[in-house]
Amino acid sequence: MNDESESIQNAEEQNVPGGDAMDGTKVVAAPVQRVMPPIVVLANQKGGVGKTTTTINLAACLADKGKKILMVDMDPQCNATSGIGVPQQPGRSAYRALLGEGSLADIVVGTRFKNLDIVPSEVDLAGAEVDMARADRYLHRFSGILQPLLDETAYDFVIVDCPPSLGILTMNALTAARSVIIPMQCEYYAMEGLTVMTNLINRVRESGANPHLEIEGILMTMYDGRTRLSAEVVNEVKGHFGDLVYKAVIPRNVRLSEAPSFGLAAIEYDASSSGAKAYKAFANEFLRRYAKPHPAPSLAPGPTVQ
Ligand SMILES: Nc1ncnc2c1ncn2[C@@H]1O[C@H](COP(=O)(O)OP(=O)(O)O)[C@@H](O)[C@H]1O
Ligand SMILES: [Mg+2]
Repeated sequence: MNDESESIQNAEEQNVPGGDAMDGTKVVAAPVQRVMPPIVVLANQKGGVGKTTTTINLAACLADKGKKILMVDMDPQCNATSGIGVPQQPGRSAYRALLGEGSLADIVVGTRFKNLDIVPSEVDLAGAEVDMARADRYLHRFSGILQPLLDETAYDFVIVDCPPSLGILTMNALTAARSVIIPMQCEYYAMEGLTVMTNLINRVRESGANPHLEIEGILMTMYDGRTRLSAEVVNEVKGHFGDLVYKAVIPRNVRLSEAPSFGLAAIEYDASSSGAKAYKAFANEFLRRYAKPHPAPSLAPGPTVQ
């Protein structure tokens, strides 16, 4: 038995409620299992498509609506960290925990939003790509270190920002995830980029690393209403992916690019901007999709998929 399953078993043993019944017989109740919040990952191998902007603004809008959110910055460029106004600090990233030293609880910090916590990032996380490749069960490291934090605090959603590559950090996020949101810039070659992502998601499922991984949705970003191209790209992507494409479309809006330099989410920086309104609409649509019956594979009873 490896360390991971041993520690899960020990925790279960310690948490089993039970006691002596009045007739003296031992009563053993079933272990209580906290319902895990959905882990939603923002991924696209391309840089500059709006992963980080979407992570920050989705997390902020959901927190503003009273949802308890854990945002995780898995990108060594730490734009999500600085973009929500959290200063980078040496040693304050998931790096050490990913390599088995310390826990995420040691580095998680609050933000200005009462309901929004962040696992911040800093440049040392770049080393994880190399160092984790030598580690045991290296694809499952992130899900392993996330679990104790989720047992401790009742979050409604975990939102993870990924680097613009399909390396070990992104693969760890996808292995831990319930679902992926793919932000797509409204530009030529959008479909090509999407094919890379959908193939990767299929590989993650088929390899057994995460058999239940779903595409949560595709979010079209940087829509420019003055060009025909943007509308054509949205139509083309909708033609292939139908309802997976969110109805909310994020416009190209300078307020969205200014806000992170002040460490602010768009709803704080300029709530009346088209960008802030679009992210609010997106967050509402995201929640509406979740309100519909959604399979919860990791919790459903039934045969265990190994
Ligand atoms: N809808 C938008 N309108 C204008 N600028 C945007 C928009 N979305 C993102 N940006 C800007 O584009 C750049 C890339 O976005 P970012 O979210 O960092 O992409 P990624 O995380 O995919 O690399 C950033 O400078 C960001 O501020
Ligand atoms: Mg980014």
